[in-house]
Amino acid sequence: MARHPILLDCDPGQDDAVAILLALAAEDALETIALTTVAGNVPLDRTTDNALRLVELAGAEVPVHAGADRPLLRPLVTAEQVHGPTGIDGADLPPTGRRPAPGHAACALVDAIRSRPPASVTLVATGPLTNLALAFRLAPDLPGRLRRVAIMGGAIGLGNVTPAAEFNFHVDPHAARIVFESGADIVLFPLDVTHQVRVTEERLARIRAVGNPAARAVAGMLAFYRGRNPEGGPPQAPLHDPCPVAWLLEPQLFRGRRAEVTIETDSPLGLGRSYVDFRSADPNALVMEQADAEGLFALLCARLARL
Ligand code: BDR
Ligand code: CA
Repeated sequence: MARHPILLDCDPGQDDAVAILLALAAEDALETIALTTVAGNVPLDRTTDNALRLVELAGAEVPVHAGADRPLLRPLVTAEQVHGPTGIDGADLPPTGRRPAPGHAACALVDAIRSRPPASVTLVATGPLTNLALAFRLAPDLPGRLRRVAIMGGAIGLGNVTPAAEFNFHVDPHAARIVFESGADIVLFPLDVTHQVRVTEERLARIRAVGNPAARAVAGMLAFYRGRNPEGGPPQAPLHDPCPVAWLLEPQLFRGRRAEVTIETDSPLGLGRSYVDFRSADPNALVMEQADAEGLFALLCARLARL
């Protein structure tokens, strides 16, 4: 069976790191054309270096293009309080001799998507959408050329940075707005679904038991990350970013409905809010509402064992 070509735009971030490793561990099913990095959880130099270290860990030959070092209009807000100063604290990965590939991430996205047949490439986004917005402005044909855009971001209900907004959309609301107004075929994994995918002690033990270096790094990162549960309460942080990659591999793990998603860019209190209207006659996204968390962790363990 032909492999599904993907581009993964990310801001690693422990949960982005797990998404990257899941994609690279599934090279029989997914052809990861490139990773593109954006400033988000930590500044751009760190997200890029983290992506390079993760590609090295997976033993993959996938280019990493660095992209936007700040949101389109707003100052950058990072999340070291959740992810630690490196963004992937707990992974304990050595420095790598690998260097970023030449060319800005937005240009790399344009070139990669235009070089493939129409409707073949899926763009997965697990950070602020700055690179996607830049690419869509550079190449207005891009949204229509993509097979899909699978995005972790937003919330149907409450946000996780403000009561209104989720981190990725809050960091660059203007970019998110451009993407949701682009006409691309979007599949959205909002907080409401990623909060069903919790890193429990038992799930962590199963990952640790896989026993290879990639699984050890994932277990180390998730042990760090679950203790920093941004919602407060017990150490069971939600594993957001692997959701869209898991969906590409096993779509039956998720259920959702079509809705019209609009991004707030005007109200100071609501900045980055995603308004999800399931009653709209003009839907622009499939919005996921339910996840099979056990199935996702089983998939993750099975795939990590291959690295
Ligand atoms: C999103 O924000 C980041 O902290 C995570 O990596 C994830 O992409 C969750 O709101
Ligand atoms: Ca992320």
